[in-house]
Amino acid sequence: MKFTRPTGTQDILPEVQPYWEHILRHTTTLARQYGFARLDTPIFEKTQLFARGVGAGTDVVEKEMYSFRDKGGHELTLRPEFTAGTVRAYIENGMRVAPQPVKLYATGPAFRYERPQAGRFRQLHQFNAEIIGSPSPLADLEIMLLAWDIYETLGIQGLSFQLNSTGCPKCRPSYIEELKAHYQAHFDVICDDCKRRLETAPLRVLDCKKDQCQPVIAAAPKITAHLCSECADHFATLRSYLDDLGRPYTLNHRLVRGLDYYTKTVFEVWAEGIGAQSAVCGGGRYDGLVQLLGGPATPAVGFAAGLERMVMVMQAQGIAVPPLPTPPVFVVHLGKAARLPAVRLLVTLRQAGVGAQIAMGGSLRSQLRQANKRGARIALLVGEDELAQGGVTLRDLARGEQRYVPLGQVVAAVRERLG
Ligand code: HAM
Repeated sequence: MKFTRPTGTQDILPEVQPYWEHILRHTTTLARQYGFARLDTPIFEKTQLFARGVGAGTDVVEKEMYSFRDKGGHELTLRPEFTAGTVRAYIENGMRVAPQPVKLYATGPAFRYERPQAGRFRQLHQFNAEIIGSPSPLADLEIMLLAWDIYETLGIQGLSFQLNSTGCPKCRPSYIEELKAHYQAHFDVICDDCKRRLETAPLRVLDCKKDQCQPVIAAAPKITAHLCSECADHFATLRSYLDDLGRPYTLNHRLVRGLDYYTKTVFEVWAEGIGAQSAVCGGGRYDGLVQLLGGPATPAVGFAAGLERMVMVMQAQGIAVPPLPTPPVFVVHLGKAARLPAVRLLVTLRQAGVGAQIAMGGSLRSQLRQANKRGARIALLVGEDELAQGGVTLRDLARGEQRYVPLGQVVAAVRERLG
């Protein structure tokens, strides 16, 4: 029987790891610089957390969750995203008593049973950031600056920042009524999905990709014209900050996002050149979620960046990342009597903090070939002659030079060679 990986997952092979390490270091460094602290939550949570937090009528909850019952009969779900778990942890750990707002980041896998395609996986990875406890448009700005700077400082080109406001429970219902009325007037034209969406998730009709729905979307009322004064002020202030900083963005009245918790600001970052799944990042404000999950009324805003798509964009744009370091020293040994002294040498080097590995066997030629293939810069040869003299031969693999070094001076000689 031959096993293959589950559909929609991938093996992240050693040759791709430099991208992942670079991205993780980069996102983490920026997040810390911007005042975010790391929070790790479990990869699985109680199913109800997502049903309630993300929204029972969303695609994520309705169709995409990896849910199971454990041996104790508990209903659990592999997290499809980080926000609900982060808010649960904020409430459960009493973070409300910490200075507000609390700025948290996390990174790791999430799981969605989606139809796999380029850039869309069933095990995906996100870098996630949240600011919990501030109603200020400055918090929205901070979140957007972090999202923007992550991509820009990676050197990614052709980005666009899509921005919209989806209002709040005060102003959204009357907008939805107007949107529904508009759609009822065109009911014979729109697709069956939109007919259904009008009942279950009306804002999502604006997101429909079907040709027949495009004229109806183009003529639909715009939510930004229906915002209450609080939402309109919030949006205007945020835009004034972005304008003042010269951060380009596109107002996108069709941007509604697929999760139920959003209020006011929503945004996405789109990248060119990676096909249909061009959203590399998405987020927004969610002022009702903390309360919905049993905490006190607490405004919040955040985003998540998809790491697979970040890797794809970097590769598509030919952005180089530094290679991962490999051990610079390779210990070569010849004959049975040399094996133990070679292992002792290996351990000595490692204890001195010098990266080293050892050949598992083979002729002198084959061991040297291995050393070169593994990217070593120095080979240390332990053979009969060396043993008799109580030292090793140090060979500089790039220059092809070699010399005898007494055992007590090996670490210093290696360090000198490596500069
Ligand atoms: P989201 O838009 O569902 O938002 O996901 C954020 C990003 O994760 C997407 O822009 C995309 O890059 C990546 N992503 C999502 N699904 C997949 C997939 N199946 N395969 C590959 N990449 C994917 C959220 O998850 C919200 N929790 C973001 C947020 C945080 N809002 C507020 N705080």
